[in-house]
Amino acid sequence: MPRNIVLAVTGASGGPYALRLLDCLEAAGVLTHLIVSPHGRRLLAEECGIERMEPEGVLGRPSNRVTIYPSGDLGCRLASGSFLTDGMVVCPCSSNTLGKIASGLGDNLIARAAQVTLKEGRRLILVHREMPLSGIDLESMLKIQRAGGIVCPACPGFYLKPTSVGELVDFVVGRVLDLLAVSHQLSVRWAK
Ligand SMILES: Cc1cc2nc3c(=O)[nH]c(=O)nc-3n(C[C@H](O)[C@H](O)[C@H](O)COP(=O)(O)O)c2cc1C
Repeated sequence: MPRNIVLAVTGASGGPYALRLLDCLEAAGVLTHLIVSPHGRRLLAEECGIERMEPEGVLGRPSNRVTIYPSGDLGCRLASGSFLTDGMVVCPCSSNTLGKIASGLGDNLIARAAQVTLKEGRRLILVHREMPLSGIDLESMLKIQRAGGIVCPACPGFYLKPTSVGELVDFVVGRVLDLLAVSHQLSVRWAK
């Protein structure tokens, strides 16, 4: 059985993380359910030149394993716990969406799908990107962690001596894939 994972992209800097994560999930055979917020669309356009919000345009190749949902469609299957998924990642995750999820809001499909993921006891990973962090961000992160979610900030390590932006991106994406138990070949491991 293929795995189902929800990938939400919000308006935090880090479009390349989202695209690489989608690429790796698709390559691993995962059925990816993609939601992009309006500001996430703007980020993907500005940082990655993505103009067409359809699977081939975002993934860069044809695939029947990627489905895109309108971020305002609270009536779609991702808004219900009866649709079985293996978890959800918000990558990159803005402070706006972090705060919404931590507050239990469900007023757009990203917040609602995250609400569902937590209530169903499924894996929720927020790849937050902002600096510095406010006290509100920190409290929101603690709430998420206490509710069963994982806050996995976009903080690449340097111990593998990266020499390109791609390697920095892969480090973060590889750690997210580890958290999802999706196998990959990205360099993330300290092997001394
Ligand atoms: C170019 C650009 C970069 C941004 N980068 C960040 C960021 O790194 N982190 C963040 O929390 N917000 C960032 N924002 C602000 C969010 O996009 C904004 O708060 C928005 O309301 C987020 O909405 P969303 O969570 O529905 O995507 C950025 C906005 C723009 C236009």
